[in-house]
Amino acid sequence: MKAVVITHPGGPEVLHIEERPIPAYGPDEVLIKVHASGINRPDVFQRKGNYPPPAGVPADIPGLEVAGIVAEIGAAVTRLKVGDKICALVSGGGYAEYCNVPEGQCLPVPGNLNFTEAASLPETFFTVWSNVFDRGQLKGDETLLVHGGSSGIGVAAIQMGNTLGHKVFVTAGSDDKCRFCEDLGAAKAINYKTENFADAIKELTGGRGVDVILDMIGGDYTPGNLQSLAEDGRLVLINTMSGKDVQVDLSIVMRRRLTITGSTLRARDTSFKSAIAQNLEKNIWPLVESGKIKPVIYEIFPAEKAAKAHKLMESSEHTGKIILSWK
Ligand SMILES: NC(=O)c1ccc[n+]([C@@H]2O[C@H](COP(=O)([O-])OP(=O)(O)OC[C@H]3O[C@@H](n4cnc5c(N)ncnc54)[C@H](OP(=O)(O)O)[C@@H]3O)[C@@H](O)[C@H]2O)c1
Repeated sequence: MKAVVITHPGGPEVLHIEERPIPAYGPDEVLIKVHASGINRPDVFQRKGNYPPPAGVPADIPGLEVAGIVAEIGAAVTRLKVGDKICALVSGGGYAEYCNVPEGQCLPVPGNLNFTEAASLPETFFTVWSNVFDRGQLKGDETLLVHGGSSGIGVAAIQMGNTLGHKVFVTAGSDDKCRFCEDLGAAKAINYKTENFADAIKELTGGRGVDVILDMIGGDYTPGNLQSLAEDGRLVLINTMSGKDVQVDLSIVMRRRLTITGSTLRARDTSFKSAIAQNLEKNIWPLVESGKIKPVIYEIFPAEKAAKAHKLMESSEHTGKIILSWK
């Protein structure tokens, strides 16, 4: 099979197509003939050598999500059959023509979507469900602030939050990105380059603050995040792109009874990921099927142009998802 390989740690130019053996699959796994592979920011960190994959995952083939057709099934697979159209969360190896994945991490391709659209869903939807709704416990009429509103994660969080009845505020780095986020359903997008987000949130919530913050920035956003939380609010970290060291006044955590938490999805086991898949299929897939939640694809590249796709992601010009196609 063909695979996009990280030939050595470095810039986008280190990505090359190479021939590799089709991966073996275990009794609980299926082998997918991949039609499209989603690109996520963690793939960029892996390419640079800063995000080693967990044991048992190909170290030099990136890719955390795919969509395609079940080509073969393991002996203990019960639900899926050869020929099924699926999308899946994988721990690596997704930038390839074939990929093995535990059955529990697969979801059906929603009937109204094609493979490139379906490949854009798993990594961000699993991450947002797990961090905003499970860990962050966003519920009732609570409010959400999402940093990086125009990112792949952001477009999933805006749509899932909004469709499930929550007011979603976001930050983004330009007026155009802010407009894009508001068109997608954000109640208000704050251009963090021209406005202090903590001041804006204070004003937008009448001084109350938001209930949950999904943050991929960390660093100097942290004091503003703590100020922006309502009493009993939850700050959920999924990355620290602006730095992991920070000085904050922790007394606010006690005064407002705040929770600071976070997680990384990739290293979690199959049963954890399968439970998220079941929640997504029950709570979110019907909303995708009905068109209330839509994939947001910025650009599709042929797999041979993976370097160009990574270059685009690192430019941060995109809004939504970047996809590789294997056709
Ligand atoms: N913990 C987990 O399990 C998990 C899983 C998946 C993804 N993630 C994390 O979630 C984040 C979003 O992933 P994604 O694939 O959705 O990314 P993406 O589409 O590439 O979007 C990232 C966006 O973040 C904004 N940004 C703000 N500060 C930044 C900085 N210092 N460096 C780079 N970008 C910055 C940029 O938009 P502006 O123009 O608005 O600045 C950029 O477009 C990444 O940090 C990723 O590692 C975590």
